Amino acid sequence: MTPRHTILLTGGLGYIGSHTAVALVEAGYRAVILDDLSNSERSVFDAICQICGDEHLEFIEGDVTDAACLKTVFEAHDFFGVIHFAAKKSVAESEADPLSYLHTNLSGLVELLRAMDTAGVYNLVFSSSATVYGDQEVFPIPETATRHAVNTYGYTKVASEEMLERVGTADDRWSFGVLRYFNPIGAHGSGLIGENPKGIPANLLPYIDRVATGELPELVVYGDDYDTPDGTGVRDYIHVMDLAEGHVQSLDAIDATGQGHVVNIGTGQGYSVLEVIKAYEAVSDIEIPFRIAPRRAGDVAVYCADASLARDVLGFQAKRDLFEMCRTNWAWTQKMAEAKTA
Ligand SMILES: NC(=O)c1ccc[n+]([C@@H]2O[C@H](COP(=O)([O-])OP(=O)(O)OC[C@H]3O[C@@H](n4cnc5c(N)ncnc54)[C@H](O)[C@@H]3O)[C@@H](O)[C@H]2O)c1
Repeated sequence: MTPRHTILLTGGLGYIGSHTAVALVEAGYRAVILDDLSNSERSVFDAICQICGDEHLEFIEGDVTDAACLKTVFEAHDFFGVIHFAAKKSVAESEADPLSYLHTNLSGLVELLRAMDTAGVYNLVFSSSATVYGDQEVFPIPETATRHAVNTYGYTKVASEEMLERVGTADDRWSFGVLRYFNPIGAHGSGLIGENPKGIPANLLPYIDRVATGELPELVVYGDDYDTPDGTGVRDYIHVMDLAEGHVQSLDAIDATGQGHVVNIGTGQGYSVLEVIKAYEAVSDIEIPFRIAPRRAGDVAVYCADASLARDVLGFQAKRDLFEMCRTNWAWTQKMAEAKTA
């Protein structure tokens, strides 16, 4: 089958990019992945090909901040658009080494926009984040909420959104699909791709994975005295395949209307830390030991998306529930553990 369009995925071997590559190929697109492997492995490309065939997939090792590399990539392909995942994403690291975050996340975006402009490619879907809302107290959060960076990583996302607005205002050929992700978890149902953070995970599900496999002794739950049904923090978790399919819908909407959009991508429904632990125990049949510690500074009780605009503008609605998120995470974790001992 001839692909509908060819899409460049910067950072496409990472957690969200790899799942989106699968969703794109399954929706009839051709995906060209550009990744410098700074936070991923070449083997992820083989796994993507194993899931959806290699006919409509290509991998190029390269750095999005490298103008010469981008020039070569754009000259060799006829892209309909780009999905820009390539970025550094650790809040703690962004505080310790802000310059490298400004370089990769902001200079990388500028170089990409320049290369797109030169090549006459004006459709971009951008990986933004709920972090642009900072420490909001009102939930669910609508897209109209004030942007407010509370760390350097968050600053790069706020600044990127502002840059896109300025570029779009100056030249109406651009269409930007800005997707503000909430908390992606889970893995592809095949168990072949998933999240594989280096070092001690900063996020809840990868941490639980390591407790389930015995690599970490217990989970620490920060605060059980929040104003939530069971006292623990509530977050808007979204299955990574739902999020991946949201990118396809974003491109489809740009293709159909020529218009951009700025939308939250979440389920609109929150789950507490204890609910996540229970669901994980149910699907894995493993008890997850945990202890309660005092609240962490800066954490809020509830952080959930108002998901109605993505539904209205893109027709986006998350389909997979918390059990499916935990089931697929556990299946992926088991495959990784098997591979380590093989
Ligand atoms: N995972 C989340 O919870 C989350 C939430 C909100 C937003 N985001 C954003 O989504 C995007 C993807 O996140 P992810 O979780 O898949 O991260 P990831 O680290 O798994 O994937 C990012 C990929 O980009 C690559 N990369 C980094 N710098 C590069 C460069 N200079 N040139 C080329 N490739 C480069 C890495 O090797 C990696 O494969 C990021 O922009 C991130 O900020 C992620």
